[in-house]
Amino acid sequence: MSKNISQQLMSRLIDHIVNDSSDEYENSITEPASFFTDPERFEKERQQFFLDTPQLIGFSGSVSEPDSFMTVECMGIPIVVTRNGLGELKAFINACSHRGARVADGAGNKKTMSCGFHGWTYDLDGNLVGVPKQHCFDIEKSDCGLKALPIVECQGLLLVGLTQDVSMSTLQAFLAPLDTQIKEFNFSQLENITTRKFNVAANWKLVVSLSHESYHFAKLHGQSLAPMMTSHSVFDEFGRHTRWAFPLKGIERWAEKPVSEWPARLPGAISHTLFPGTVIVVNAKDAQIIRVEPGASAEQSVVYYMGACAKGDSVEESVQAYNFGGDIFANEDLPAAEQCQQGLTAQQCDIVIGRNEPVVQLWHQRWHSALKD
Ligand code: FES
Ligand SMILES: [Fe+2]
Repeated sequence: MSKNISQQLMSRLIDHIVNDSSDEYENSITEPASFFTDPERFEKERQQFFLDTPQLIGFSGSVSEPDSFMTVECMGIPIVVTRNGLGELKAFINACSHRGARVADGAGNKKTMSCGFHGWTYDLDGNLVGVPKQHCFDIEKSDCGLKALPIVECQGLLLVGLTQDVSMSTLQAFLAPLDTQIKEFNFSQLENITTRKFNVAANWKLVVSLSHESYHFAKLHGQSLAPMMTSHSVFDEFGRHTRWAFPLKGIERWAEKPVSEWPARLPGAISHTLFPGTVIVVNAKDAQIIRVEPGASAEQSVVYYMGACAKGDSVEESVQAYNFGGDIFANEDLPAAEQCQQGLTAQQCDIVIGRNEPVVQLWHQRWHSALKD
């Protein structure tokens, strides 16, 4: 029996466990503290990596039905994604043409969206279709539709452009290098179950790096993750994106069994990171998205931790897994990133990234080369 992607990763991880090795680089590298504090760099990253680059905002299972919608925020922009009665997917800035309030909240099924402030109503194509006391407004309804954003659905993932400058062809091409690698996870069957938002006093890149090395498991997660996971890991590059996987303890026992008996999903975590740093974590049963965005300054970020569940699966179980991971992230990882930022800002020295932190190295190289510095 040929191995699927999860099982191929499992084989590589079992080899690493048996040899007590890991995918590593040959050297460690250094990075100046200014990488995390320089306002000029920060502004360029904000524009080029986020506003000018396709952004992953969720799983398409949340808007799979005709006449459905979901809402998200990305880079401070409120967004409503709709699927109209014909099944066409659209995205709009979730801001009413009257005074800018949101026209939809949460997610669900309906044919029209009504602003909660004064009741202007829009159809799922963004057209303004109802205005209470319309005789008081010197407007043409046809001029007052919602502002559209480019959106595509690829492999069950929703990608938007935050400005009209992000072309549909750019959006469509964005995921292509990862296409065959993520197919088996059926992301289109996943629905968002819940989202936690964090305002973090650390540069966005420090937060992204939390999801890219297992060196910290033994110490930082000594009581939480470390008893369950090993720090052996494998990584791969796919165009602008990466994949990094690490297993639950004990997966080496599967080596004695034929592949036909192996689980279809890796017992562990597979983190796919889309440029510049949005992570889709696939675990044995469900998935999460960790979206890290630049905050109000180089030393602040906004993080969305979104949990998803396959349609028909037990939501309670997924929520439990989501809360377990989310609590560790909130109580252990994010405070560590904030400490790092405070220390880096104070001492302004170089940091070191070890040869055992190859994915962190790799993303540093990518962020440099993307800004051509
Ligand atoms: S702001 Fe939407 S109806 Fe007034
Ligand atoms: Fe961690």
